[in-house]
Amino acid sequence: MPKGQIKMNTPPPPQQTFGVPGKSEKYKGVKHTILVMSGKGGVGKSTVAINLAVSLGSQSRKVGIIDADINGPDDPKMLGVDREQLYATDKGIIPLDTKYGVSIISMAFLLQTDDTPVIWRGALRHKAVQQFLEDVSWENMDYVVMDFPPGTGDEALSVAQLVPDAEGVIIVATPQDVALLDVRKAINFAGQLKLKVLGIVENMSGLKCPHCGQDIDLFGSGGAENLSKKLNIDFLGRIPFIPEIVSNADSGIPGVAVNKVFSDAFESIAKKIIEKVEKK
Ligand SMILES: Nc1ncnc2c1ncn2[C@@H]1O[C@H](COP(=O)(O)OP(=O)(O)OP(=O)(O)O)[C@@H](O)[C@H]1O
Ligand SMILES: [Mg+2]
Repeated sequence: MPKGQIKMNTPPPPQQTFGVPGKSEKYKGVKHTILVMSGKGGVGKSTVAINLAVSLGSQSRKVGIIDADINGPDDPKMLGVDREQLYATDKGIIPLDTKYGVSIISMAFLLQTDDTPVIWRGALRHKAVQQFLEDVSWENMDYVVMDFPPGTGDEALSVAQLVPDAEGVIIVATPQDVALLDVRKAINFAGQLKLKVLGIVENMSGLKCPHCGQDIDLFGSGGAENLSKKLNIDFLGRIPFIPEIVSNADSGIPGVAVNKVFSDAFESIAKKIIEKVEKK
């Protein structure tokens, strides 16, 4: 090396870590894995994941949910099964049945109280999701719907790397322009991981006034549909903002079980997904 030159460490070769090589024995029972993602938090991923799962279930499919949001495992509470105890048999950990025809596994079942934060380093959180895929008995599941951690950062990346043979990604967006910027991020994220984008769902798309019935454009509407046309990605449907959905979710009732507008919207999305993944 010429004098005066600083010796640099050679960077390690890029690791090919995307996707795991094959399905674990227990996960082999799953026919189709659908990932629900978004470019940012709070847009309704969990709401879409749960209600889509219940809707697929009511169309004679056997459906499981993996709540892969380790830091904010809200799904059990939204399905009325928080604070339940998991158990295992020789077939593996048994996902919990809910009243709504879907089974679920979540970090929430491993925490002592609802207020316990998950102060785990990345590697441990990664391990937890890996166990959800490898050690849980997902027997004869037509679909597993995975509710992703928010955004396109490390957390989501590490979950995406674990999923074997995912059918594709549903991207949830709200209609504002700023939220749509994040949709592009989520689409690129999926592209980099070689995950197919099944389509975009526009959530909180308009609000029907509970008093006068007039349509109010809360965050605007139609933005995600226009974007999906521009990007040549399927638009799966619009979900309006329905104020009572918030209190339903808080008391453990998925909107599709009690609200006709919600259940119609999700039935149509579920049918599109079935068409795409079962009849391809
Ligand atoms: N269409 C809707 N109508 C009314 N309320 C909704 C609707 N969609 C979601 N919400 C409410 O908005 C809040 C955020 O939704 P949700 O938890 O599904 O978002 P998220 O993207 O999963 O959030 P996070 O990124 O924190 O995981 C919840 O209180 C939920 O009940
Ligand atoms: Mg969520």
